[in-house]
Amino acid sequence: FGDKPLKGQKLLLTAGPTREAIDPVRYISNHSSGKMGFAIAARAAEMGAEVTLVSGPINLPTPIGVNRIDVQSAKQMLDAVMAEVATQDIFIGCAAVADYRLDKIAEAKIKKSAESMQLALVRNPDILATVAAQDARPFTVGFAAETHDVEHYAKDKMQRKKLDMIAANDVSISGQGFNADTNALKVFWPQGCEELPATDKYTLAGQLLGLIARVKEAR
Ligand code: PMT
Repeated sequence: FGDKPLKGQKLLLTAGPTREAIDPVRYISNHSSGKMGFAIAARAAEMGAEVTLVSGPINLPTPIGVNRIDVQSAKQMLDAVMAEVATQDIFIGCAAVADYRLDKIAEAKIKKSAESMQLALVRNPDILATVAAQDARPFTVGFAAETHDVEHYAKDKMQRKKLDMIAANDVSISGQGFNADTNALKVFWPQGCEELPATDKYTLAGQLLGLIARVKEAR
């Protein structure tokens, strides 16, 4: 395959945060900048894949040759992923999906009155686990954002969600993970693991995709 190890592969990935509306002007979200996911999309296209990027609200330019679908909430991200997943060879969940959404979104802006207030939250669907539970599923890769016991929690996520691979990042290290230009990954799959040391997200994306191509090919 030369420098195009993903030639002929259809790759679907999620990137960025999700936004869970509270009322027409407020939302719950997180610090994901989309840089990691957009770097994976860019490198995957350069490595020959046909790439579909389902992106949360992110202002980055769409990488060349990538088909981009913009969404806001976790529910919209799930719907966009499920509409595409049947024809895909590889799925990568890089988005920082909100685990909870508002039970009820207020129709009008909430006025301040009481000294304190409570928001009732309900669990969001798990997009990665939903993809992994499909019968004819793509090679399914998850990310794990952890602040401690990285290996333990990452392996637990891989087993619970029945993944083919998981890429763990320690988001407690400053200059890595959320909103940084660099990152480092510990990648686990059922038969092995590999450490990808800190570097810029574009280089790291290429290394991760090379590993995915190798492990998928060897199955
Ligand atoms: O966007 P950047 O600023 O560049 O930062 C990159 C990153 C730190 C966001 C990225 O490298 C990363 O770790 N992404 C996953 C973040 C995350 O939400 O991890 P998690 O451990 O909470 O979730 C585990 C996996 O399940 C992830 O693949 C996630 O996409 C997926 N998930 C989680 C919840 C949910 N409801 N649906 C999901 O699909």
